[in-house]
Amino acid sequence: MTEQLKEIELKAKEELSHAADLKSLDDIRVRFLGKKGEITAILKQMGKLSPEERPVIGQLANKVRADIEQAVTSAQNAIKSKAAAVKLEAERLDVTLPGKAPKLGNAHPLNATLAEVEEVFLGMGFDIVEGPEVETDHYCFEALNMPKHHPARDTQDTFYINENVLLRTQTSGVQIRTMEKMKPPIRIISPGRVYRSDAVDATHSPLFHQIEGLVIDKGITMADLKGTLEMLLKRLYGEDTQLRFRPHHFPYTEPSAEVDLMCFNCHGKGCSMCKQEGYVELLGSGMVHPKVLEGCGIDPEVYSGFAFGIGLERITMGRYNINDMRLLYENDMRFLEQF
Ligand code: DAH
Repeated sequence: MTEQLKEIELKAKEELSHAADLKSLDDIRVRFLGKKGEITAILKQMGKLSPEERPVIGQLANKVRADIEQAVTSAQNAIKSKAAAVKLEAERLDVTLPGKAPKLGNAHPLNATLAEVEEVFLGMGFDIVEGPEVETDHYCFEALNMPKHHPARDTQDTFYINENVLLRTQTSGVQIRTMEKMKPPIRIISPGRVYRSDAVDATHSPLFHQIEGLVIDKGITMADLKGTLEMLLKRLYGEDTQLRFRPHHFPYTEPSAEVDLMCFNCHGKGCSMCKQEGYVELLGSGMVHPKVLEGCGIDPEVYSGFAFGIGLERITMGRYNINDMRLLYENDMRFLEQF
């Protein structure tokens, strides 16, 4: 029996060493260790043995059983870890492969220009405020000294929600809203969308952007207006930029001026870019009209101030040499990627 048991152990281990999967391991285990297995068969014959032999064979049988059990367990572990290794290899990621870089966008030229303008004014201590695009007739016109039927309204036809509510044609209404809320000294700019009932062409759009500026304090003069605008435009267009202040009329400033930029193409001589004028019109400005100050509860005998309104499209087109406004709104990546 001793021989038989040893043979069983050898045979079992030999078979285990060839088993390729968990199922065949289990078959082997059942065949040798199961209730109807080979070891059980031997144990069943123990009755035939002498009383002295019984414990010896019993012990050996237990040891063989334990050895085979252990061999099964280690064969199982080997198969499992091999399977895990195969799975890992199959799922391996090559972290050294070049990645797929997400395409980074860049600021739209209008936003890039606006960001620079804001930076210049923040540096001079201005606040940035916002106003509503859907505005009342009062803030857009009336409080700016442009009563109904004022001829200055002719150039600013817009989209009406009703008789008194409209899409604002200018950011100037924010001046009024600010003066009603803040006490001088006031230093603000207010960028935003404005609307006009204009047909689309190379220089017109029913939607465009303005940046309004307003400064109110004691002793503010036209010199402050000139200094502030020069500071801005030299930062945007370079130190050799030349400005021209040309008398004009706006109902809400007195005196009023339009500011022109010397054409950077021909330096004032006149060319096709400036329509032979030597200068390009850039913005409207002036000293805030005493009637407007009074309407907002600010005493014009004590305070004075200046205001200006710049077209963001115009300064952007000038900076980047863009000759058609429509390019700014078409979202053509071939155009936008150049900035
Ligand atoms: N609101 C004017 C426009 O849309 C621009 C402007 C002119 C704004 C003079 C001002 C100003 O604040 O003082 O054409």
